Amino acid sequence: MTSYQPIPLQTLHDNHGRRFTYLRLSITDVCNFRCHYCLPNGYQGDGEPEPLSLEEIQQTVTAFAALGTRKVRITGGEPSLRRDLIEILQVVTATAGIEQLAITTNGYKLPQHIDSWAAAGLSQLNVSIDSLDARVFKAITGHDRLREILSGIERALELELPVKVNAVLLRDQLDQLPQFLAWLRHTPVTLRFIELMQTGSQPDYFKRHHISGDVIRQQLLQQGWQALPRGPHAGPAQEYQHQEYAGRIGLIMPYSPNFCSSCNRLRISAAGKLHLCLFGEQGYDLRHLLHPQHQAELQQRLQQLLQLKASGHDLHQGNSGAIRHFAMIGG
Ligand code: 5AD
Ligand code: SF4
Repeated sequence: MTSYQPIPLQTLHDNHGRRFTYLRLSITDVCNFRCHYCLPNGYQGDGEPEPLSLEEIQQTVTAFAALGTRKVRITGGEPSLRRDLIEILQVVTATAGIEQLAITTNGYKLPQHIDSWAAAGLSQLNVSIDSLDARVFKAITGHDRLREILSGIERALELELPVKVNAVLLRDQLDQLPQFLAWLRHTPVTLRFIELMQTGSQPDYFKRHHISGDVIRQQLLQQGWQALPRGPHAGPAQEYQHQEYAGRIGLIMPYSPNFCSSCNRLRISAAGKLHLCLFGEQGYDLRHLLHPQHQAELQQRLQQLLQLKASGHDLHQGNSGAIRHFAMIGG
């Protein structure tokens, strides 16, 4: 008997043995925050193509779902700036095959939105909070919204939504760890420290602020945090838990060896380009295929394009690809 199992025809897989069951779908480039590491001068885009319409989003998600995608994350820019966000969530929820619907938001107006998002089928919430010190938060994002965002998270937890909080790890913010830990003692969220990644628009910022997640790892281990075993379909975060804490901590370290071997995700930009890697050189335009009469062709094209996916990124060579900032493609 052989243990060889052929991959079913209708999946998205690449030439490096990876299967892709998770789609990150950006629905707008526009963001109202000015995070230092992303859009320090605010969103500048004009003359950008119109973002995908509800119908185009439906075609996109239908194709990915038919090819084995089970999880969709709505990203931006800031997705809540789209007036039809609820309809978008409903369309994704209603797509056969999609089991999980997540959103990544800066949390602006979260308390006002979260109930309707949950009612539209949202099953997971990711919010960015780079500091729990209101002054530092304002300095980083340009907005004095920390209190509202935290109360939106409380509401999401009442609604029993799993919540992840993203904090970008910055060299001069390492002293924030105790404050985050105090919050996690009683707050059942997963806080993920994301190593700062180099993007095209700000190479110098990266040099000044990047620090390895190892620094946090050492401190966590010293304080009795334990690494959780990684499941076969786990994302890129290494997670840690501690019995005295309600929350967990994840470390996302794209500069560590083998980071790309567990890659399970594909990205679609707000203008309908497929990005095979966050740090790839180009996106592949699919917009002309986002019509019901081209659905079969769209699926075929996706399967073909996957054959071009490289085994890993070139960040170590300082090559950050075509992405100028993450508002283009939602991280
Ligand atoms: N490096 C790492 N994370 C980044 N984000 C934005 N820009 C960068 C960067 N250069 C994060 C945001 C948010 C997510 C969408 O991406 O903080 O959590
Ligand atoms: Fe900040 Fe995200 Fe907006 Fe970039 S897209 S400025 S990281 S909130």
